[in-house]
Amino acid sequence: MMHEKVLIVDDDPGIRSTISELIQELGFGTETAPDGLDALEMLDSGPFLCVFTDIMMPNMTGLELIRKIKARDVSLPIIVITGYASVEIAIDAMKCGASDFISKPFKVKQIEILLNKVMREKSLLEENRRFSDALHLHRLIDNLVGQLEDKKEEILSLKEISDRIIRLKGIRDLVGAIVDVSTQILDEAQVTFFPLSRKTGRLLDTDSGKELSADPDLLLGHIVRKHHANSHLVERFETVFPLMIEGQVFGALDIVSHSLLGDEKESKIQYLLNRSAERMENVALYEGLYDNMLSTLKSMAKILDARDPHTSQHSTRVTSLSMTLADGLLLTQEERDTLYIAASLHDIGKVGIPDNILLKPSGLTDEEFAVIKKHPDIGADILKSLPPMIRETEIIRHHHERYDGRGYPLGLKAEEIPYLSRIITLADSFDAMTSDRPYRKGMTTDEAIQEIDRCKGGQFDPALAEIFIQKISHP
Ligand SMILES: [Fe+2]
Repeated sequence: MMHEKVLIVDDDPGIRSTISELIQELGFGTETAPDGLDALEMLDSGPFLCVFTDIMMPNMTGLELIRKIKARDVSLPIIVITGYASVEIAIDAMKCGASDFISKPFKVKQIEILLNKVMREKSLLEENRRFSDALHLHRLIDNLVGQLEDKKEEILSLKEISDRIIRLKGIRDLVGAIVDVSTQILDEAQVTFFPLSRKTGRLLDTDSGKELSADPDLLLGHIVRKHHANSHLVERFETVFPLMIEGQVFGALDIVSHSLLGDEKESKIQYLLNRSAERMENVALYEGLYDNMLSTLKSMAKILDARDPHTSQHSTRVTSLSMTLADGLLLTQEERDTLYIAASLHDIGKVGIPDNILLKPSGLTDEEFAVIKKHPDIGADILKSLPPMIRETEIIRHHHERYDGRGYPLGLKAEEIPYLSRIITLADSFDAMTSDRPYRKGMTTDEAIQEIDRCKGGQFDPALAEIFIQKISHP
């Protein structure tokens, strides 16, 4: 039997061979490349199951490599190799199309879980290609709904745990909280946190930009040093505690005090650092799971689009039109993120609409139209049970409301309709108008713009419609 092959891209030969050996232990073949250029050449040489890539590399960054691979083959899964210190980078990579990440220290179990997931998704994709009948698509969708349920449970239990520990949201909050709490514990001491530079392996003084040598003993625990501060021989004590995340030094807490800290204070600080490290591990895991859940939802949306060949890519186009309109508005980054997700998933509720109604080319009866009109509520109900999707839920529920109150499901009017829903309504209608249907040809851009102009204040928010028209006419 031919082995499935995995491509490993990392400029560090040690990491290449460690991951390669672990993957081979699991019965897969491996090829390795020291940088993105070599990786792209190797990809031409044969089919690969997936790619593991580092981010910081010479010649071409991992993010560039991900974009280039996705431009050639959108279905090839890419897993990012990262340290715990760079969860944000891993998430950026996932936004570029990476499907997961793995962090040091690498464990064979972790790699096995990732590769099983890749194999499962590959076979789903192949099944999707082989069969196109509606029944089969329903099975696929059921399977995805099942995966979503599993992830929901994982996320809920992690969320409970992490909520109880500390309410920290990111590495920066974590460092601030560690310094604040330590200062409270120690009154008069001077407390500084030095992160460890991943590039040089040295501690970094973020105020002065200077690098300090990292003491290798930090791996074993905290260190106490005695200093003489000036010519009067005033003694100072410096105690350095490592912050270990997943068994690696992430940085060090440096405390300068007039006297030794004593056992009680030392153990309090150690407890704070341990709990913070646990919290960061949970945050990293939670963010990874959140992105997994999002990619499952997006696959669902893609499969839904594929159910009807006349609306394929609809969700993608509505998302890009919504973001084009958003560029002309004063939205916060959080609102933009919410809009992006809600637009990608706006028709997710069509999962619950039978094919004989959804795919009917024309002439829906009143009863059939009433069934179609349920899809915003079904979509909102799917997302309602997922805590990270709460904001998107109401946006999706109201994407078919009309500004004049004659839409559905609730007949909300004007400002009663969530602002982001009003944006999606414009993008959704514009795409529907300009797409061909079996029973009619799509409008030209100019015709659709005229139609939107005509329906300002009726179907559409007039102020948003104006901006949308400007954005579409002068891209
Ligand atoms: Fe819709």
